[in-house]
Amino acid sequence: MRLWLRFIIPLALALTAVAYAVVPLVDQLTLKWFVRDLDARSSLIANTLQDPLQELIRDGARGKILAVFNKLTHDERLYAVGFCEAAPGPLLATPNYPPELGCNSLDAILAKQSPLLPSTRGLLHVSVQTLRADDQELGRLVLVHDMSFIQRRSEETRHYVFYLFIGLFAVVSVITGVIAQLSWRGWVAGTRAIMRGEGLLWPVEKVADADLQPIARDLRSLIRDLEAEYRVRDEAQVTWNPPALRTILREDLRGDEIMVISNREPYIHVRNAAQGIEVQRPASGLVTALEPVMRACSGTWIAHGSGAADRDVVDAHDRIAIPPEQPSYQLRRIWLSHDEEAGYYSGFANEGLWPLCHIAHVRPTFRASDWKHYTEVNRKFARAAVEEAKKSDPIILVQDYHLALLPRMIRERLPEATIITFWHIPWPNPETFSICPWRAELLDGLLGSSIMGFHTQFHCNNFFDTVDRLLEARVDRETFTISFGGKSTAVKRYPISIEWPPAEAVTRKGVAECRADVHKRHGLTEDHLVGVGVDRLDYTKGIIERFLAVERLLEQESRWIGNFSFVQIAAPSRSSIGDYQDFEAQVRACAARINSRFGRDDYLPIILKIAHHEPDEVYEYYRAAEVCVVSSLHDGMNLVAKEFAASRDDERGVLILSQFTGAARELPEALIVNPYDIDQCAAALHLALTMPLTEQRDRMRIMRTLIREFNVYRWAGRMLLDAAGMRKRGRLTVSEVASRPRLVRLAGRRSR
Ligand code: F6P
Repeated sequence: MRLWLRFIIPLALALTAVAYAVVPLVDQLTLKWFVRDLDARSSLIANTLQDPLQELIRDGARGKILAVFNKLTHDERLYAVGFCEAAPGPLLATPNYPPELGCNSLDAILAKQSPLLPSTRGLLHVSVQTLRADDQELGRLVLVHDMSFIQRRSEETRHYVFYLFIGLFAVVSVITGVIAQLSWRGWVAGTRAIMRGEGLLWPVEKVADADLQPIARDLRSLIRDLEAEYRVRDEAQVTWNPPALRTILREDLRGDEIMVISNREPYIHVRNAAQGIEVQRPASGLVTALEPVMRACSGTWIAHGSGAADRDVVDAHDRIAIPPEQPSYQLRRIWLSHDEEAGYYSGFANEGLWPLCHIAHVRPTFRASDWKHYTEVNRKFARAAVEEAKKSDPIILVQDYHLALLPRMIRERLPEATIITFWHIPWPNPETFSICPWRAELLDGLLGSSIMGFHTQFHCNNFFDTVDRLLEARVDRETFTISFGGKSTAVKRYPISIEWPPAEAVTRKGVAECRADVHKRHGLTEDHLVGVGVDRLDYTKGIIERFLAVERLLEQESRWIGNFSFVQIAAPSRSSIGDYQDFEAQVRACAARINSRFGRDDYLPIILKIAHHEPDEVYEYYRAAEVCVVSSLHDGMNLVAKEFAASRDDERGVLILSQFTGAARELPEALIVNPYDIDQCAAALHLALTMPLTEQRDRMRIMRTLIREFNVYRWAGRMLLDAAGMRKRGRLTVSEVASRPRLVRLAGRRSR
């Protein structure tokens, strides 16, 4: 009812007013047209009568003239005809001829603007036509037309216009009513929702058509996604720390589940004669980077339980909450038999893939039995991933070359999972990679990932080249994607880093104290200078090359003999493998040779510490040293370089860095060397030991700023943001496809 009052009555009034204005206008217009027509008609009649009348007048045949006139008035519209001769004579007129149109009054009529004459019969149209012959006026022909038919037509037109407006009113009322009804409800609901603090789109769900609701939902989620994307898109504006990662998880990934899967576990439980069970942090770049990320994100880390006491501390599901001092995430341990470990880890991963991917001149060994174990163990990890997944679409971060088959295996079991695989070591060129007999299987496994990450663009490019060469896949270097088997994998560079600031536990002890303690431990005098190297005992690390550089330094600059020592911390690694055993022997021999050549009772040029060191012990050496040498022959990133700079909050110390590390691309302020060039490395050592403090400070400041800005939270954050973007796009594509039939249905229904 209110609708009628609000919309229909005003509309009726408006239309009536318009009708009242229009009808007289139409009347006037039609009258004008008819007068014009009658003027033309009259002159036509006059022209037609001119000649016959001329003869009849000349003959004086008045009777005949009247007969012609009477015949003319048989025409419905021609009411009367009269003729006034030029030579004064009687008016010849038909019986209806109006008496007021006497011959003497014709001039007055001609002078009048309007040819219309009111009469008892209604309006008459009067036309006076002068007839001439041989330039002589014969007389005036008066043609009187009846205009009552015009009035009749005008009335008819008025009726039509009236009905037209009634019809128009009805149609417009219905349309207006429907639209007003919808928009009024929409606005009322919208206003109420805004007052409740909701967005404008929310009321759409409550409006009329149930078919619109899913579309509104999709739009709402799209807007929410875009808002979230916009919020964190500018990564340079984010302060990258644990809360920033948690925000991404909460807002961009809506609290989605995170799972890390690696071979190496972040905490190893070992047996210790004195303390019983002891927890160790392994010497692993991967663990160094990911452990702080998992502390920030929670979730589950699945890894090989390699410690002798690992089984003793897990629950019935092989899980343990870590870190031990303040548990914040779960470690799910995978148990491997001796044969499995030998085939999968030592064999295929470390005797095959490791030397294949590193240019360190160790020949890779591929055995079919190792491949079998590698496949089985990858499957074991995949089963654990499925068991640990709480939802059908977890985010899974697969780590490194031990698990190259895992992404595809997980994809088969959890097709909706977002799988980010990070390859921590270099990726070789296609020729080198082709050496592997199972090259296609490995690539297929990796391309089960949603995202494939490498430290450097160079490694990404090598991966593109390899896939291009070895698989039937579409490699798009513009969008950095590979399409294989109908699925797409994004291949991107994510340079790994370390936590910033370093944990309080490792920097708690002041630099001076660290220096004093290290000096005391090794019997060094106060002014004795110290160099440090921290590595796994691995042939890729260039440990022998750096010893040779120390030897060359002592040869060339004798002032350092007795005044400089190089401490090498070497964590035993992969010691069941022959190449590693040989390498350890070579390292020991090299150190012994140099020590015997330049050492004395109270002086060792090389202090070799082959043992596991916990992070706080490693940091003590970083902080005590004048120079740190990272001389890898080939390395994905090398986090020791970043750790050394991060540890030096005193802005002192010099980093010598191999050009064959990923880190060299990020830290050009280090002294960049070719580890194969022993003279250059020796010169770099000398330069470092004599570098002015101001220069040390300038270089250190730049490196520390970079590591602070590009810390491990940013590394993980960028991957998670990319994963979030993919998931959003995936959801949108799905909802777009899902909403299409609805739209078609809607369109179909409305057109019926
Ligand atoms: O950083 C490269 C890397 O191979 C990691 O993948 C691995 O965790 C680490 O070095 C140590 O190697 P491993 O786990 O064999 O001791």
